[in-house]
Amino acid sequence: MELNGAQNNGINGNFMYGNSVHHVSVRTQVSVNPAKLKSLRQRWNVRPSEMSKKTLNPIRAIVDGMKLTPNPEKPMIALSIGDPTVFGNMPTDDTVLQAVKEAIDSHKYNGYAPSVGYQKSREAVANFYSCPEAPLEDKDVILTSGCSQAIELAINVLCNPGDNILVPRPGFSLYKTLAVSMGIQVKHYNLLPEKSWEIDLQHLESLIDDKTACLIVNNPSNPCGSVFSREHQHKILSVASRNCIPILADEIYGDMVFPGCDFYLMLAHPQVGIEMEHFPDFQNDVEFTERLVTEQSVFCLPATAFEYPNFFRIVVTVPEEMMIEACIRIREFCARHYRPRSQDSHELDQ
Ligand SMILES: Cc1ncc(COP(=O)(O)O)c(C=O)c1O
Repeated sequence: MELNGAQNNGINGNFMYGNSVHHVSVRTQVSVNPAKLKSLRQRWNVRPSEMSKKTLNPIRAIVDGMKLTPNPEKPMIALSIGDPTVFGNMPTDDTVLQAVKEAIDSHKYNGYAPSVGYQKSREAVANFYSCPEAPLEDKDVILTSGCSQAIELAINVLCNPGDNILVPRPGFSLYKTLAVSMGIQVKHYNLLPEKSWEIDLQHLESLIDDKTACLIVNNPSNPCGSVFSREHQHKILSVASRNCIPILADEIYGDMVFPGCDFYLMLAHPQVGIEMEHFPDFQNDVEFTERLVTEQSVFCLPATAFEYPNFFRIVVTVPEEMMIEACIRIREFCARHYRPRSQDSHELDQ
């Protein structure tokens, strides 16, 4: 049997049809336009995607541009990243270490896991968080690689380009980074420092429109270190349910709040305000924190990175004696640069 075709490649072979073997010879007659042999691209030009061009990490953008030259006479104290494992003052519990070791030694988990997580793990999480008012089952749980991936997934599921999301100001910068890269508009609702950083509910509600796809609530808060009361959480729920807006609840620090003590103990990220009119040596929080490094070797994040200029954020995850030393140095720095208004007394001397 012979087949001829302008589009076929040359193929020779045998194939079975019923009980007999047939020989096949396919001759190729490809008519090639010589112009097409020339590739469309003459040289390499790999361009960044539109999404990557819209992706900005404000913390990196600000910190990378800062001149951070510590005072060689003073050892550096970084109050910029809240990682208690650096100094070993929040060691991983032995039960956790043991469980991880056993899992590795068992060789049962070396292959591909289901993309939503192992059934038993999902069940364990569901049991832990389930309560009579909001019962959870394993199918309600998806395990992700860190909270960042969970947030990204949730935004992807809830929002389309052109929609908007409501995020706190000051707030964790990842929400905006992800949303903007996906063509989603970000609207900031205010947190109120004079009310322990509760949400300004009126402001929040005024931002909602028919393009609002979700409300992100971060409680306990990074960068504020605040924990909402039950009553305030009910009020937030009322706003969301009245307007039929789903809540994306980032409660990553939820299990760090202990009755009687507080979240502030370990992973708090308190925000400190700078009364800029008393510090004429500096234009803004970025310059203030930059000079704090130069003179005192203490590094705090300027809160411009959290859309909240003229504040800075400290973390209290370093050991106590280091924290005390940092506070002494910050005080010394402030005393040196503070200028009272003419009618004021020097408040820091009191
Ligand atoms: C409020 C908040 N949400 C999410 C994340 C991201 O968590 P992960 O490191 O697990 O991705 C962080 C980390 O700093 C955070 O502070």
